[in-house]
Amino acid sequence: MQSISELMASAKSEIKKIKTLPELEGYEIEYLGRNGRINVVLEDIKNIPTEKRKEFGKSVNLAKTTIQELIKNKQKDLVSQEDKGQFIDITLPGRKYPKGSLHPVTTTIEEISKIFEKIGFIRMSYPEVEWEYYSFESLNMPIGHPARDDFETFFLDFAEDKKYGKMLLTPHTSSGQVREMLRVAKSEARGKQSPIRMINIAKCYRPNWDVTHTPMFHQFEGLCVDKNINITHLKGTIDYFAKKFFGEAREIRLRPHHFQFTEPSFEIDVSCGVCFGKGEINGKKCKVCKSGWLELAGSGLVHPNVLKSGGIDPEKYSGWAFGFGVERAMMMKEDLQLNDMRVLYNGDIRFLEQF
Ligand code: DAH
Repeated sequence: MQSISELMASAKSEIKKIKTLPELEGYEIEYLGRNGRINVVLEDIKNIPTEKRKEFGKSVNLAKTTIQELIKNKQKDLVSQEDKGQFIDITLPGRKYPKGSLHPVTTTIEEISKIFEKIGFIRMSYPEVEWEYYSFESLNMPIGHPARDDFETFFLDFAEDKKYGKMLLTPHTSSGQVREMLRVAKSEARGKQSPIRMINIAKCYRPNWDVTHTPMFHQFEGLCVDKNINITHLKGTIDYFAKKFFGEAREIRLRPHHFQFTEPSFEIDVSCGVCFGKGEINGKKCKVCKSGWLELAGSGLVHPNVLKSGGIDPEKYSGWAFGFGVERAMMMKEDLQLNDMRVLYNGDIRFLEQF
């Protein structure tokens, strides 16, 4: 039978030699477990004379707490050694977190702004929640015009204003035209009109939901007002845009059309980037355009009534305007061939991750 002092001495030296946590656990069981060495020594108490039992008990308890303490300290050492080994491994690759990216429509808007800013156009934004007046009346679209129908516009349930009519979600960026004319007029000394070169890129709303329409979409509106402005300036500007945005090889053409707020009015087509404007590939009709041309935008010379709404004298000044759909332009540029435009806005990460 080992004496208490011998037991303590051997525990000390053995614990010192231990190198791993499982090994230490084995030792703990060996000394302090139910059938461990301490309890074996304690069993000897029955052979101790009664008057010495108290002292004997004390010394066994002291041995027990000392060993417990030694084990605890050793455990701390081993854990901290292990930690050091793990965290100092600088060769481990860093953790990668998924990164977001700009939505393709946002990127396109930025690109369009830059193209127009380069030739002196100022990017403006006007209210999305707008008066009927700026969306229609001031643009020469009187009450009764089909675009003012409930089916084409989201009207809001607010009180009507005598002059400005109902409130609505703006169905096109053209509502910024008269606001811009008034803004510039206000900032100028009376009787002196400074030229306007505006690009208004904004959200628009119409109650349509199908493969080629979403109820919220984007347009960009160009407006230029100055002395002696004519159609060649309109054509030159759009030609510049088409070449910068779609590529140098692309051509545009103006096709007569009708809009209330321009006279004359045109639709703008851009030559197809897939068949290079030929309308066919190897004797077969081009699937993208069918004719060599893709319809891009509406445009024209600003109607005298619209200039008047903006406080501009149509006898002295003239201007042009155009309106494009951002999503449409983007799809034509990338030749994205989306068979459903709604994927742009349904938030599916598998689609968005491609940009
Ligand atoms: N606002 C028209 C639309 O949403 C597009 C448009 C056509 C804008 C002719 C113009 C323009 O500025 O001159 O369909």
